[in-house]
Amino acid sequence: MRKVGILTSGGDCQGLNSAIRGVAKALYHTLGDSVEIWGIADGFRGLIEGEYKRMRPEDFSGILTLGGTILGTSRQPFKLMRVIDETGVDKVEAMKKTYRKMGLDALVILGGNGTQKTANLLSGEGLNVVSLPKTIDNDVFGTEVTFGYHSAVEIATGVLDCLHTTATSHGRVFIVEIMGNKAGWLTLSAGLAGGADAILIPEIPYDPRRVREMLEERARRGKEFSILAVAEGAISREESELSKKELKARRAADPAPSAAYRLMREINADSKYEMRVTVPGHFQRGGAPCAYDRVLTTRFGAAAAELVCTEQYGRMVALQSEKITSVLLSETAGRARHVPLDAGEVQAARAIGLCLGD
Ligand code: F6P
Repeated sequence: MRKVGILTSGGDCQGLNSAIRGVAKALYHTLGDSVEIWGIADGFRGLIEGEYKRMRPEDFSGILTLGGTILGTSRQPFKLMRVIDETGVDKVEAMKKTYRKMGLDALVILGGNGTQKTANLLSGEGLNVVSLPKTIDNDVFGTEVTFGYHSAVEIATGVLDCLHTTATSHGRVFIVEIMGNKAGWLTLSAGLAGGADAILIPEIPYDPRRVREMLEERARRGKEFSILAVAEGAISREESELSKKELKARRAADPAPSAAYRLMREINADSKYEMRVTVPGHFQRGGAPCAYDRVLTTRFGAAAAELVCTEQYGRMVALQSEKITSVLLSETAGRARHVPLDAGEVQAARAIGLCLGD
């Protein structure tokens, strides 16, 4: 009998359930009655606290299109993993103990960057770990794409499409703040797909004067409305020259709650423009996965099951050159994938004259 545990960790996204389904169906298909799948509750929390349950094949039916995660999730910061908490719990030892108590042969972990670090830690501690890359941020190193990303691009694009009509009617400037943490992938793709007039991403510090010049140029051409797609992690050129500590102190003292509001203040000091801010927030992580993510998660799930069946542990499934492969957790953990300045999307944005703030 092969016993496989499965958990989802970190912020949720579309496609978690379809990935869980892919792993489970492929395991049952290959191993039949000789596999038992155990669902661990709320990510690493369930592994630490010993909360898990035996899953049945029917648990994985009808979940292809379901948003969220049937297993639950939680954020367990990697930097605290080795810190003994106030109740005296050694989290790493507790996870190893649960793994042994459950009698697991393998543990399948679905998560983003932080999760991959903990997956690597557990692998280093001798657990048989296989992981899958999920996040709307698309910033996991070692894979060209993470699941959740394309679904979130669809949602953020839909937001920009809807705002276009109302922005045009009123001749307003809309600033739309798009998620993505410190990476600009989501903003860049949604900005291109949604026809934004400016796209500001963390990888390209912006000068508010450039954005303003773009607005003025559009007004000269009779375009009174504009759509600015701004990554939540966008940073001005001035801020990019500060040390981490200085930036933190400045942000703490700033009454503006987030990037979009800072930008509004920076470019509209004289209130010349009628501006509105829209922050779709977690809306971007919810609902059914798009068709691309359903296919990707099925492929990732099948690949993860194969790694388990062939006992290739310490690896994360990945997409490279459009082919499914896997990478060592030790190579991906602790590294994020940012938008390179020569990315095709950046080049295309420049080629069509979009303002990138620089
Ligand atoms: O990593 C996914 C993500 O949605 C980021 O884009 C965002 O910065 C963060 O999670 C929000 O985290 P939380 O769900 O903890 O508010």
